[in-house]
Amino acid sequence: MIPVLARTRAELAAARGSMSGPVVLVPTMGALHDGHRALLRRARQVASPNGSVLVSVFVNPLQFGPDEDFARYPRSLDTDVAVCGEEGAAVVFAPDHAQMYPAAQLITVDPGPMGQVLEGKSRPGFFAGVLTVVLKLFQLARPDAAVFGEKDAQQLALVRRMTADFALGVEIVPEPIVRDSGGLAISSRNAYLSGPERTAALALSRALLAGQQQAHAGPAATLAAAHTVLQAAAAADPPLRPDYLALVDPGTFDEVTDDYRGPALLLAAGRAGLTRLIDNAALLIDGPQ
Ligand code: PAF
Repeated sequence: MIPVLARTRAELAAARGSMSGPVVLVPTMGALHDGHRALLRRARQVASPNGSVLVSVFVNPLQFGPDEDFARYPRSLDTDVAVCGEEGAAVVFAPDHAQMYPAAQLITVDPGPMGQVLEGKSRPGFFAGVLTVVLKLFQLARPDAAVFGEKDAQQLALVRRMTADFALGVEIVPEPIVRDSGGLAISSRNAYLSGPERTAALALSRALLAGQQQAHAGPAATLAAAHTVLQAAAAADPPLRPDYLALVDPGTFDEVTDDYRGPALLLAAGRAGLTRLIDNAALLIDGPQ
């Protein structure tokens, strides 16, 4: 299938008008990899048998800080359109800056308290930028459902919350993390990693696994096991320089106390060389209180 490529709002509106429902949106920043293919396949399932998949490709400047990688973020629209076609997408919406932001975006979405912690604390303005562009994409594409990866767990939680709080009427569909053979969560930014940096980065998923294996013993043991792995990685050459390690309530992103029992998310972020990586694992804290 060769998808329709819509470069303007008008082209999107025309393409959207001829799409059969349900219409399932996969918002991306392009540089599509196997993780995106999983999102596209999930979208196809949700749209089946009669619906359509719409993919947006837009590197959103609003969600990059001044010292971040907006300029060098990988861009590969021709390949992305081919990938979307292989995965059965009907339309690719790839606007330029002027189409998404014809005027300065004076009003943005406030991500609230859940957006101030972890990624929100390390990357000020990031979630305001993400939620603003997602809200705009929802307005322009009017999807029935949208698929988001669990790799960006805090983003997924905030999009869910925004959709509920603003009664946007879009079903938010999560898709599990895709990992490479070494366990590294697949991300467009992995392309920046040298061989040794990739080896260093593997400590993130190893730390989460170590934590998961101690979930039966409670929050402190879970965090301690993950911390031990990250500490060793920080002392290795090249190091994985840890940013945060946190065990949170998946509904609120509040860090859990040691008497907490129930579903939790263990999240970690760190830098290998100049590349910032994030990962997370869902677990059930079910030990004795
Ligand atoms: O996860 C991403 O790729 C981006 O944050 C998104 C959701 C496409 C918004 O720019």
